Amino acid sequence: MKNKSLLPDDLHNYWTEVANTYQWKKKWDQLQTGDFEQVNIEWFQGAKLNITENCLDRHLEKRRNKKAVIFEPNNPQEATSFLTYGELHVSVCRFANLLIKQGLKKGDVVCFYMGMTPELLIGLLACARLGIVHTVVFGGFSSQSLHGRLLDSKAKMVVTHDGSFRGDKIVGLKSMVDEALENFQQIGELAVEKVLVVKRTQSEIQMKPGRDYFYETLIKDCDIYCPATSVEAEDPLFILYTSGSTGKPKGLLHTTAGYMVHVGNSFKEVFQIKENDIFWCTADIGWITGHSYITYGPLLNGTTTVIFEGIPTYPSPARFWEVIEKHHITHLYTAPTAIRSLEKFGNDIPEKFNMSSLKVLGSVGEPINEEAWHWYHKYVGKQRCPIVDTWWQTETGGIMISAKAGITKLKPAHASLPLEGVLPILVDEKGNEIHETVAEGNLCIKWPWPSMARSIFGDHERFKQTYFQTYKGLYFTGDGARRDHDSFFRITGRVDDVINVSGHRIGTAEVEDAINEHPNITESAVVGFSHDIKGQGIYAFVTPMKSSADHEILKKEIRDIVQKIIGPIAKPDQIQIVKALPKTRSGKIMRRILRKIVENDLANIGDTSTLLNPECVEQIIKTKNN
Ligand code: WTA
Repeated sequence: MKNKSLLPDDLHNYWTEVANTYQWKKKWDQLQTGDFEQVNIEWFQGAKLNITENCLDRHLEKRRNKKAVIFEPNNPQEATSFLTYGELHVSVCRFANLLIKQGLKKGDVVCFYMGMTPELLIGLLACARLGIVHTVVFGGFSSQSLHGRLLDSKAKMVVTHDGSFRGDKIVGLKSMVDEALENFQQIGELAVEKVLVVKRTQSEIQMKPGRDYFYETLIKDCDIYCPATSVEAEDPLFILYTSGSTGKPKGLLHTTAGYMVHVGNSFKEVFQIKENDIFWCTADIGWITGHSYITYGPLLNGTTTVIFEGIPTYPSPARFWEVIEKHHITHLYTAPTAIRSLEKFGNDIPEKFNMSSLKVLGSVGEPINEEAWHWYHKYVGKQRCPIVDTWWQTETGGIMISAKAGITKLKPAHASLPLEGVLPILVDEKGNEIHETVAEGNLCIKWPWPSMARSIFGDHERFKQTYFQTYKGLYFTGDGARRDHDSFFRITGRVDDVINVSGHRIGTAEVEDAINEHPNITESAVVGFSHDIKGQGIYAFVTPMKSSADHEILKKEIRDIVQKIIGPIAKPDQIQIVKALPKTRSGKIMRRILRKIVENDLANIGDTSTLLNPECVEQIIKTKNN
């Protein structure tokens, strides 16, 4: 038989049991097929389902009047709003009917470029209701980044806000969409036919007749029920772009059934959710964390999920603690960078709030340092709440390594044990599995798991190359890790050219490409450096053509160009203007040396005599930014 599954029996049995807890229109013929050699993984072949029936319809009998979504607006003076499971079901159906009326069909792609309001979550589910593929582009990306993603995904519709509130600012999302649609035509032709605008800030915007429509106008006439389209297990659910080691962002493709099964299950297992819990994940829905643990994971479990529009420091650095007290949050799931930035304002701020509702704390996005872990445990969790440090990736779809709240023993800064059904291993440089328990190596996954990305949209070859070529027959995560005598994993960070800035993945090549667009820059090299708050910051070395240029102006222009091409999240923290970059004789930039220089680890720079231009190393050290 073609594509026979090699999955070991215990994994096979485990996932069968988990999958049986979901609602299927038709069950699978084969649990899993394909392998990491062929890179042709499928799960639940032959099954038919609709994920929104599992997120919504299934709960109506018992939970119709239970809160599904709590919306906490940017401005705490604005009233909070709620949607019950019954109301969310209606909202999703109406949005789905709107999409049908606008001519969208199963398999089409709709792009969301929005602030964090319930309409974003509703929109994603409306797509899923119809088998339409969603792709969310984080509102902090530039219009040029948006253009690139629209081009690559072939999206037919963009859903946006007139503007989005972020702290004391308004982000003009609709005008960015206009730019994305109109200003880059030379790069390629877009498939976008319609723009749907949800009103939020009442900002003045341009509406192009025949292309742009207000959501509020169209939704009025939409029916409150929409049957759920039956989709195949492997039909795409969404595309989500992430940075990699080359310049072009990758659109990771996730499919329906496997994603549902793993995400729903990991949510339940890791957070040990109970019926009346209130779950708050502070991520943006524009990232995988917001897909899996604001949207699908909680709703699959009938849990109340919080959508927070604002930022941790607005109107004051007490905002997180206020929200916890106000909504009786039981589970807080946030990023180390947020913890570190709030810690800086002092221990007495969280002390002022009644956070006794909290039961479980979560961490995601980057390694949490021990100091931040202890602060989180002591001042937020009052030493009562277990911390689950959840390791996973956009590619993995759901959590892979994590403690289970209240079950796994706590060990600061350790992601700890793999979830059941997942088999991570450590390999040495040659790709040999390290069998000793106590070990350090590169983190790989040995067997397929249901929520793994199936491809890079439109480029399966790149998918194979990126994840399955480094070590034959294994999925390579790009992360390094240590394993201790308890078999607990501690993730040490990326081992490739990806920088993790405040939990956001930024490919060095992408930033370099943007910097090199500056007319006076010959070349650049970007590396990460340790940053107290962000975890890692971006350090750019650049060589100008005209060395007479005013350095301060040049640095500002470089920051501006990166902001324009990628977005504010990729702006370098440090820029050093140098005469030359260290290169091998074949002309390859030696980023390893630059990394040692920025970390002040001069003793370990190694032998530079074989470089093409060893003299430049000395010069770079001398002129380094402090
Ligand atoms: C890092 C976010 C240490 C890691 C869910 C991974 C972590 C990348 C952790 C994925 C953690 C995520 N401990 N490192 N608990 N969680 N990472 O795709 O380097 O935005 O490869 O997914 O973040 O980032 P992504």
